Amino acid sequence: MRALVDPYGRHVTYLRVSVTDRCDFRCTYCMSEHMTFLPKKDLLSLEELDRMCSAFVAKGVKKLRITGGEPLVRKNILWLFRALARHLATGVLEELTLTTNGSQLTKYAQELKDAGVRRINVSLDTLRPDRFRSITRWGDFAEVMAGIDAADRAGLAIKLNAVALKGLNEDEFAELIEFAHGRGFDLTLIETMPMGDIDGDRTDQYLPLSIVRARLMDRYTLEDIPFRTGGPARYVRVRQTGGRLGFITPMTHNFCESCNRVRLTCTGTLYMCLGQDDAADLRTPLRASRDDALLASAIDEAISRKPKGHDFVIDRRTKQPAVARHMSVTGG
Ligand code: GTP
Ligand code: 5AD
Ligand code: SF4
Repeated sequence: MRALVDPYGRHVTYLRVSVTDRCDFRCTYCMSEHMTFLPKKDLLSLEELDRMCSAFVAKGVKKLRITGGEPLVRKNILWLFRALARHLATGVLEELTLTTNGSQLTKYAQELKDAGVRRINVSLDTLRPDRFRSITRWGDFAEVMAGIDAADRAGLAIKLNAVALKGLNEDEFAELIEFAHGRGFDLTLIETMPMGDIDGDRTDQYLPLSIVRARLMDRYTLEDIPFRTGGPARYVRVRQTGGRLGFITPMTHNFCESCNRVRLTCTGTLYMCLGQDDAADLRTPLRASRDDALLASAIDEAISRKPKGHDFVIDRRTKQPAVARHMSVTGG
């Protein structure tokens, strides 16, 4: 079967799959406190998600990342991991992984490891319980820390993700580095992206990572390293800790030219770019026939429309988010 190559010659080898738009947290930069979620009947079943993902794997996707909302709040989600792991066993899929807020990891870490997951990304913006509560609104810090411990014990490699938030966690990056590297975890810092209406002004939260990096260099020696995970982060080694620190900079440094990914939502909509509204309906062709021919051609057609890049801007004049949907629809 033909590989997925977009009009700019980029190979699509990474599919991010949001299995639910629901979440047990309400992070201030991600959601508003009162969200309306999709009715359950609009969701693809786990069997349909498996069929969708498998169609992408047949077209050369090497990396599947399960996201949400919070993926581990979807009922029976381990079934999907176990089903998709068959592609790891045959070697056509290189990585099956997830991004999680960590709240369910005490329950699922070992099962994820047993299913074939080797590495997970856990969102953790702060190490202070009171701040954790104000950033996530509903999150329980102790529960997430226990989840991280459980994942570590299960032998999962861990990357922590921290969104850089002005006035909220900007004084804590050194502590986050010491914590992550002390435990043998990678850490990536992320610039906030203007997606969906939140309760508040994003200009108040936005902190360019160029500033963070310069501040960290007063304290640490940061050595550029070629390490890559297939995601957008650029990594440095922190000489003093020996650990890896990644920077995801959609705002200050656009990495669209090397984009290798597309995003499937839990209703079977494919977004070809995180920062654009254009999308393709894959649920209709999936449900229209038992074999995957219609689905395969709908995927090809969608990839032929992959845009060059996003148009994210955060400034005082641009009050509207760049895209109307929340991050929780596509899972980052
Ligand atoms: P690995 O590199 O595999 O560890 O993962 P990742 O960084 O691709 O995934 P993760 O789910 O940890 O995402 C971290 C952040 O990167 C999220 O906030 C995503 O929204 C952001 N991100 C991932 N891909 C893109 C992209 O194509 N464009 C933009 N603008 N941001 C992205
Ligand atoms: N900008 C940047 N990152 C975001 N995330 C959620 N919302 C935003 C946003 N508006 C992050 C989460 C998680 C990852 C998948 O996306 O913290 O780590
Ligand atoms: Fe939930 Fe993640 Fe959004 Fe926080 S950032 S509300 S944990 S989906």
